[in-house]
Parts: sequence; C-alpha cells; structure tokens
Amino acid sequence: MTEIRVLPSRTAYSRPDELGPRILGGEGPYLVGADGTRYLDASCGSGSLIFGHGDERMIDALRAQSRKLTLFPSRHFSSEIVERYARALLDFGPPSMSRAITFSSGSDAVEAAIKLALQHHFAAKRPQRRKILGRNASYHGNTIAGLGAGGFVARRKPYEDVLAPCTKASHAHCAACEFGLQAQICALECAQSVEDTILEEGPENVAAVIVEPIVGAALSAAPPDPRYLPRVCEICRHHDILLIADEVMTCFARTGRPFASMHWNVEPDIVICGKAISAGYYPLSALLVNERVVHGPLARDRYFQNGQTFACSPAGAAVGLTVLDRLANGSVAANATRMGELLRGSLRKELPGELINSVRGMGLMVGFDISTSAFKNPQALSPGHYSDRFQRAALKRGLVIYASSGSAGSEEGDHAMLLLPLTISEREVKEATASLVAAANDLLETENK
Ligand SMILES: Cc1ncc(COP(=O)(O)O)c(C=O)c1O
Repeated sequence: MTEIRVLPSRTAYSRPDELGPRILGGEGPYLVGADGTRYLDASCGSGSLIFGHGDERMIDALRAQSRKLTLFPSRHFSSEIVERYARALLDFGPPSMSRAITFSSGSDAVEAAIKLALQHHFAAKRPQRRKILGRNASYHGNTIAGLGAGGFVARRKPYEDVLAPCTKASHAHCAACEFGLQAQICALECAQSVEDTILEEGPENVAAVIVEPIVGAALSAAPPDPRYLPRVCEICRHHDILLIADEVMTCFARTGRPFASMHWNVEPDIVICGKAISAGYYPLSALLVNERVVHGPLARDRYFQNGQTFACSPAGAAVGLTVLDRLANGSVAANATRMGELLRGSLRKELPGELINSVRGMGLMVGFDISTSAFKNPQALSPGHYSDRFQRAALKRGLVIYASSGSAGSEEGDHAMLLLPLTISEREVKEATASLVAAANDLLETENK
C-alpha cells in the first residue's frame, strides 16, 4: 500500500492544503510517481488517453507535424493536412455529417456548438429561436454557456446567477429515475419530459436540445433506455429543433463504437468530439455538422462566426489523423467492448455490494454508485465525501479513478468511473478489479471502526 504525502500546492487548481504524490511520467496504462510507485490510470485524462501514456506513434506524429507547421490563419489559407483530417473525421462520424471544425477543448467545442445552433436559426430567419434546452445531472464543460446547459449542481454553484439560462428536462438514468419508475414498466417518461420542456418553452423559441448520449461526470457512465435517444431525436425533428450530441467523453471508441449515439442509430445534427479525439496528445476537439445545419449559417452568412486561435490546427490534425488511423480496423473498439464486459462482470462479482452498486456503462466507460448507507454515520457528511474518500483509498492501492457526486438529485449521490485505456489487457483489468476491491474493503474497515 502506498502512503500519500500531503504538501502545500502553488497551483490554482489544487486544494491549497494538499498535493498528491508527485508524478514523473507515464508508461502505457500506468502513471509513475517520483518514488517509483506505479499507479494504474483508470482516469486517463478524464478518458482522453485511449492508447495510454508515452505512446511513441502519437509523440512522433506531433513532433513531425510541429517541424512543418503548427498554426496558420485558416481564414486566408487552406492546408492539406487540415482538409485531409476534416474528410477523415467525416468518414469516421455518422454518415449524415458534412462539415468538421476543430477547436482545442471540449468546453470550447460545446460553446461553439451552442453558437452554431443559434447562428443556424438566425441565418434561417428564425431569430427568436434562442433557447438551448438541457437535462438534469449532465455536464457540458465549464464555460458560462456550457455550464449553463449542464445540470451538474456542485460545479454550477459558484456561478449560478450568471450562467446562461437553460431549462432542463429530466435525465434518463434508470437507476435514479426522476419519475420513480422501474425500467421494465416505464413509458419513457424521461423522453416525454424533453418534449414537455420544449412545449413549455414554446417550440418556436427553442434552438437546440443538448444531450450526452451516455452521461459521464454527472452520473458516471449511465446509458439510457435503448428507446430513449431515438425518441428524443424524433421529438427534435418534429419541432425543427437541432439535436446536439455532446460526445466529448463518449466519442472515438470509448464505448465500443466510434460514437455512443451509434449504439442506437441516432444521427444528431451536431456532434461534439473531445478528449479521445487526440488520445490526450494535443488539446483538440471538434464539431461534426450535418447538411441541415450547414445550409443555415455556413451557406448564407458564408462562415461560422466563431474565430479561435487554435481552430483548424495542423498539429492537432496530424495527431487526430494518427488516432483515426489506429481506430480504422475496429480492433481497439472491439477490445474496449470485450474488456469493458470483463471489467463490469468482475466488479459486479467481487466488489462489496453494500458499498458499491449499480455497476454500469458501455465499452470501457464504466461507472458505479457508492452507497453511503454502508457507513456508520453517513448523514453527518457533505455530498461527495465518500467518493473523495474512495478515490484516496484506491490511490493507496495504486489505482487512479474518476470520482464524482450528484447522481441522486442536487449534490447528493456519490459515484465514480473507471476510464482505462482502450488498449488495456485482461491482466490489467484483473489488476484494476483487485485494487478497487481492496480499496472498497479498506474504506469499509477504516470508516466503520
Ligand atoms: C460530456 C462533456 N462535455 C464537455 C466537457 C468539457 O471538456 P473539456 O474538459 O475538454 O473542456 C467534458 C469534460 O469532461 C465532458 O465530459
């Protein structure tokens, strides 16, 4: 078991009173600490590092393109590698997509998607369509508009009064159904709540509905009922509202398919890609956009009014092309499906059920709930306390997990995810399971002493 040293931090991101173990490097699925400790990384840059750390092909691609050209003014010139990448992205995406634009983070791609939806209706002479609708317990990045569109209560809290207004429909997480229904007897009330919200706001005022096909940070890998997303898509089409799929965490084979919406044959109007799009080797994100959207602003106004310094980066394109090349034969996605099933199966079997329940997910996006009722005095503690404790217990057992809270309404409901590299082996899946089981038992023991 590894001892965690606590030191003061000078970075604005860490809690001022504590600093985790110092990391020197990464090797494949492991982070390597300054003291030589190896941590199996099931956080992977929040799901970005699909090929793990220190991947030579990714490093070589970035190095080679950086020697030639990293940035250029994309309004004045074109670039062969950027065009090639846009075509490759469209070939990889849902068939109806016809344009691709790259940016540098999931948050700025979400922001761009929202602006593109607004510009689409503006150019189509429907300037009153200004509302973006979201869902409870969702996360769409950290800008004022993205955080506004999301329903992650704890992350919104310090900014609540200035966030972009966005009415929320119910989420679609069956284990915490907002209508108190069992999956088998529901009539898809969560999808109906999307339509009810549209009708309350007035369909003529709504520009777009934004959804994560499988909710990540806010619900830890919660896939909806298989009928849900097709129905939401139908509702949006019926009211001439754009459907934005935020696939920042689910894209590029994380869930075993190129995009999670493909599990249910749904073709959104705008698909937001991030994280795995560069396998973590360059700050890259993208929007894929269908003809319906392109025929709005891009045709009439001639371009999308949303310039950004790192948009259309040749360095990002080179990294992105290498990722696509490696995903092309489907073996990485197949491994994600196989290893994901193995991992969920062994977690369900081996984890103490009184603490961990509702193991879920698709491919190597794996999540579960942490039941605070397993502890002696759960009500005295703040939400997120036990997911934080569980994260630390896992770290002591050499495993990095992605812990979160808010799956049971407001800030209540602790949960966590494992987001291993998609190239993970059976042996490493067994190691992750053993470390997580040991961490769960450690936590039960220390908290219930
Ligand atoms: C679904 C979703 N959208 C948007 C974002 C924001 O991406 P980034 O952190 O790259 O800005 C995230 C990040 O976790 C995400 O999971």
